[in-house]
Amino acid sequence: MQDDINQPNTYQPETLALRAGTQRSQFGEHSEALFLTSSYVFENAAQAAARFIGEQPGNIYSRFTNPTVTMFEERLAALEGAEQCVATASGMSAILACVMGQLKAGDHIVASHSLFGSITNLFNNIIKRFGVETTYVSPVNIAEWQAAARPNTKLFFLESPSNPLTEIADITAISASAKKCGALLVVDNCFCSPALQRPLELGADIVIHSATKYLDGQGRVLGGAVLGSKKNLEGVYQFLRTAGPTMSAFNAWVFLKGMETLKLRMDAHSANALAVARWLEAQPNVQRVYYPGLPSHPQHALAMRQQKTGGGIVSFEVKGGKQAAWRLIDATRMISITANLGDTKTTITHPATTTHARITPEARVAAGITDGLIRIAVGLEAVSDIQNDLARGLNK
Ligand SMILES: Cc1ncc(COP(=O)(O)O)c(C=O)c1O
Repeated sequence: MQDDINQPNTYQPETLALRAGTQRSQFGEHSEALFLTSSYVFENAAQAAARFIGEQPGNIYSRFTNPTVTMFEERLAALEGAEQCVATASGMSAILACVMGQLKAGDHIVASHSLFGSITNLFNNIIKRFGVETTYVSPVNIAEWQAAARPNTKLFFLESPSNPLTEIADITAISASAKKCGALLVVDNCFCSPALQRPLELGADIVIHSATKYLDGQGRVLGGAVLGSKKNLEGVYQFLRTAGPTMSAFNAWVFLKGMETLKLRMDAHSANALAVARWLEAQPNVQRVYYPGLPSHPQHALAMRQQKTGGGIVSFEVKGGKQAAWRLIDATRMISITANLGDTKTTITHPATTTHARITPEARVAAGITDGLIRIAVGLEAVSDIQNDLARGLNK
């Protein structure tokens, strides 16, 4: 096995996505092995004792570590340029592990008000019960972040692009603000993936992933990850090891296969999304299109500096509110009506009544999620087929 693949800055990202983290067993398999085992056998009692007290490295139990999961962690860490990666059972458990690993009662979070609905729900209804408060600010107004910080603020939390409006937060500027406040900046990089954006290079301290999305890329399994320095991830790993929202070995294996085509897919998703966004902008029944790759996007210039392309998510507002939005969704024949994103198949959703239904109407209005808003995660079908499917309900 060529062992320089895991050395920093040795290979290009395309190569790392295929090869970083690979460990071969004594059988010399070419494709990464799937280790379905809950525990590991020790040579003797002394070795077991040394492993348990951390004197000797090695696997003990798959809630702590598993070789297939470790390969996933090392590959994603190489792609994000992170010292360490902790894999989790889902994107939400990555966020939970991050918060539980970093915070204690009495701490405070400053978060973007444009977050995936379950994250807002986690902060407002679960974390809050343990004495951690959250203040929400605009992801595009940097002054608000510093103004909202308190002496007990420990984390700044954002997604960029945001879900579903694709607002772009200036990661470098918000990271400078977090540093001034003594807080860590956490960036959910799920919409871009490391193929398009590397938040740690831009100043973020911690990166979160819902691997369920583009890292798998084919809508098969759930998983997540927290990435950053060993120091920042120590508490996160301890939480995971003790509380157990660990990634399954099978899912890690699926992600390893998915990541091999990450760059190809992200380039193709982006090209299709740009074509669909341009076409939507020309439709008379479309009020507004949100896509970072369009010059009409308010943070287009920032997006093009921070990301390689606009990504695969396009949101748009139809004239006629909820009725018109539901009519368009119901008229599709090929596009899948499902809330997931990052799949090779195009998906369509109505955020106000699905992903963002559980947040209060006031918070929804603050986040700009109107009743006429539709989100599509543009897949890899022919652009003309995607456009024709959307046109059915748009022109009714
Ligand atoms: C931006 C973002 N972050 C986190 C999550 C949560 O990920 P998971 O569904 O894997 O728990 C999602 C899910 O849709 C998401 O869109």
